[in-house]
Amino acid sequence: MDPKYCSGVVFSNTQVYENIYEMKVGENFKGQPGQFYMLRAWNREPFLSRPISISNIENGTIIFLYEIKGKGTELFSKLRSGDSIELLGPLGTGFPLGIEGNVGIVAGGIGIAPMVYLCHKLSTKVDFYAGFREKSFYMDKIEKNVENIYISTDSGLEGHSGFITEIFQPEKYSSVYTCGPLPMMRIVLDMCRKANVSAYISMERRMACGIGACLGCSILTTSGMRKVCKDGPVFKGEEIVFND
Ligand code: FES
Repeated sequence: MDPKYCSGVVFSNTQVYENIYEMKVGENFKGQPGQFYMLRAWNREPFLSRPISISNIENGTIIFLYEIKGKGTELFSKLRSGDSIELLGPLGTGFPLGIEGNVGIVAGGIGIAPMVYLCHKLSTKVDFYAGFREKSFYMDKIEKNVENIYISTDSGLEGHSGFITEIFQPEKYSSVYTCGPLPMMRIVLDMCRKANVSAYISMERRMACGIGACLGCSILTTSGMRKVCKDGPVFKGEEIVFND
């Protein structure tokens, strides 16, 4: 099956922090928080497309916050206003919306990307916990609906000095959403399980097709092997099986 990519026009592509960029692409894009698009900006397919989560959608303009992690994302960072980019999506499952009660969001580094859109779409007030290595970035976009923001940095330059899981209090919430480095999410899920709080996790895996055809993104869950691109990337926390 040849997936149908569409063309978008890059409106802007701005460096927001060291190797973190925000790209705005028009127009008429759709999607829910937690879903992603496969992106490519090369003609002769030297690389696989890259899965990038939706960071926001404003009047059809889609916003991607991404980190340069290799050749593909480095090429994205070179795109300029007016350039075209190929997109496939929205793909995967999003975070459940319409949740009642207090919500806690725990994000680490570039894991804040889908949580910006999630904050905008949740109909309840949330507390946002964000952990970074050196300094925070993009936190000015997380204002709507957010009651309290807690920041930690490994460097101690901002907020709590140490890991975000050291100040996260799961017992304050009825539901928790998390996205970020696997070791952080694993601790968050463990804390939620002990506090009897339901948790939702956004998993990240290298992807080739993005549409469930290649099995390259499979992970072990309590219901067997499942594909991050199609069955996820959002899963219930209790479904995830961590391989030690
Ligand atoms: Fe191909 Fe998920 S990336 S099945």
